[in-house]
Amino acid sequence: MNIITFDSQQELDSYAAQLFLNQIETKPDSVLGLATGSTPIGIYDKMIELHEQNNISFASAVSFNLDEYVGLLPSNDQSYAYYMEKHLFSRIDIRKEHTHLPDGTAVDLEAECARYDAMLEAQPVDIQLLGLGHNGHIGFNEPDAGLSGGTHAVELKSETREANARFFSSMDKVPRYAITMGVGSILKAGAIVLVVRGADKAAIVKEALTGPITTSVPASLLQTHARLTVLLDREAGRMLDLK
Ligand code: GLP
Repeated sequence: MNIITFDSQQELDSYAAQLFLNQIETKPDSVLGLATGSTPIGIYDKMIELHEQNNISFASAVSFNLDEYVGLLPSNDQSYAYYMEKHLFSRIDIRKEHTHLPDGTAVDLEAECARYDAMLEAQPVDIQLLGLGHNGHIGFNEPDAGLSGGTHAVELKSETREANARFFSSMDKVPRYAITMGVGSILKAGAIVLVVRGADKAAIVKEALTGPITTSVPASLLQTHARLTVLLDREAGRMLDLK
């Protein structure tokens, strides 16, 4: 694992964005694994800037998002489909039909998960962007006695709903369920870029990267990946023993 810490958010965002733009430059039809939450917003801004400045096109690229809330239409401004459109897709030349998110409004969630897995199987992710939840979740893979390998519907933990409540007008508006790519699918990516900011995540960063590999800290399974890059700000990395 390659861990890099940054003094400023701008430096971190630029570095992360550059990894994705390099991937597209090397292989224009790359499959990008994308994430939501507050962490990637600056990275997407930087990707847009680099795309414009250097004329790097996303026209042949494909994207898969990690997760989506159950029950929110893409037109709902709290859905991850809306977030992606707003923060990235509408501002680059990626083709709408090349962008994929689980459909949280599907009537048959099991069939939707199978559909998503089949697409991922056909178009394996080259590089996956990940944030980290305070309880160690990645995507919406919550700590549990066991983890699902493939895409599945999940009941969100109360701490996750509380953490995400800041985006909603009230707690009861925060969805109780989500669809997420499984940890098995995430680990199939050719490369993984985990990005974490803030002192409030320092303890979980240490646990995930240096603690035992356990399903009660889903991100700890990332330790098994051969091409894991971890990008941290100083605060998130402050409990690690970095030289
Ligand atoms: C959400 C998302 C995750 C994200 C995490 C951290 O629950 N499903 O993909 O990584 O929370 O979010 P943030 O970056 O806002 O701290």
